[in-house]
Amino acid sequence: VKRAKRVRPSVAILGCGAVGEAFALTLVSAWRHEGQRAELLLWSRRRSRARRLCEKLAVPGLDVRALDAPEDAFEASVAVLLCLPDAVIAPFAARLARSVPRGRVLAPVLHTNGLLGTEALDPLQREGLAAGKLHPLWAVSRAYPHFLPAVSFGIAGDPPALRAARALVRTLGGRPLLLGNRSGPRYHAAASLLAGGVVALIEQADRLLGPAVPSVDDRRRRDALVMLARSSLLNVSIGGTRAALTGAIARGAEETVRGHLRALRHDPDALDAYRVLGRTMLELARARGSIDADAGRRIERLIRAPGRKR
Ligand SMILES: NC(=O)c1ccc[n+]([C@@H]2O[C@H](COP(=O)([O-])OP(=O)(O)OC[C@H]3O[C@@H](n4cnc5c(N)ncnc54)[C@H](OP(=O)(O)O)[C@@H]3O)[C@@H](O)[C@H]2O)c1
Repeated sequence: VKRAKRVRPSVAILGCGAVGEAFALTLVSAWRHEGQRAELLLWSRRRSRARRLCEKLAVPGLDVRALDAPEDAFEASVAVLLCLPDAVIAPFAARLARSVPRGRVLAPVLHTNGLLGTEALDPLQREGLAAGKLHPLWAVSRAYPHFLPAVSFGIAGDPPALRAARALVRTLGGRPLLLGNRSGPRYHAAASLLAGGVVALIEQADRLLGPAVPSVDDRRRRDALVMLARSSLLNVSIGGTRAALTGAIARGAEETVRGHLRALRHDPDALDAYRVLGRTMLELARARGSIDADAGRRIERLIRAPGRKR
């Protein structure tokens, strides 16, 4: 078996959607910063997408190329990243497996999906390729297709795939999170609950807030809520969830909680959210000892959904 003679590190990205673009932009800016001469190979089902991204990434010293076919990604020396939707990854891996070149050491293939494990890449593994997963714990949108420094990436896979994943995470300025066996659904449920939940909570809060500040426009209201959410995140990052908890439940302010429940009675979804999240708030408040046992019991009764026994 001949080793591929490639001096420049090269990474192939298959799928130039939000995540593919974020990997491409962040890798290119990291390589540029390090003065690294490297190569990025891009393919997307819509050719115009890969070409547009190539134009955006045109940087002296970096070779960024749009590939004619996904099978050309086997030229990559560091890794092939499959930045494709959940349902597409396994059939796509099966398609690639039919064209694996012989007689060369090939780069590991990593998919970026949170839920799926490496079994989605079984057909490639059967052809002798290393397979893994490199999932950004970052909500990637078309509006901001970048990874900030210190983003964590869930990683899993064969030893060579893990090495490639760690090397990429290092280049991206991120932090690797080694995933346990078959932990995909639990890991991804946690990530989705948080990333989507924060957005949904801001939406709920905004709907409640709107009529309370009728002279304030949408943008100002959103900015106000985002700053409030940031203050909570800042407090969690400094001292953890127990220390970060503020508000009526944390203080054991029973009458205030009663007032909130009255205010929410015409909004069943917000009321449900308040009751459900209130139970976790109460647990945190008890664990840190910021409310006494009686106040805790009274608040627990208040926030328990009517008819619910526990
Ligand atoms: N967005 C996030 O916050 C996030 C975070 C972590 C992980 N992920 C995971 O990363 C993966 C990509 O997510 P994304 O947000 O980048 O999705 P996306 O923006 O919808 O992009 C999906 C990409 O897949 C391509 N594609 C769709 N169907 C295809 C098919 N049948 N054959 C070949 N290519 C196809 C699209 O191609 P064209 O556009 O060229 O047609 C596009 O490039 C998913 O598995 C997702 O779960 C997403």
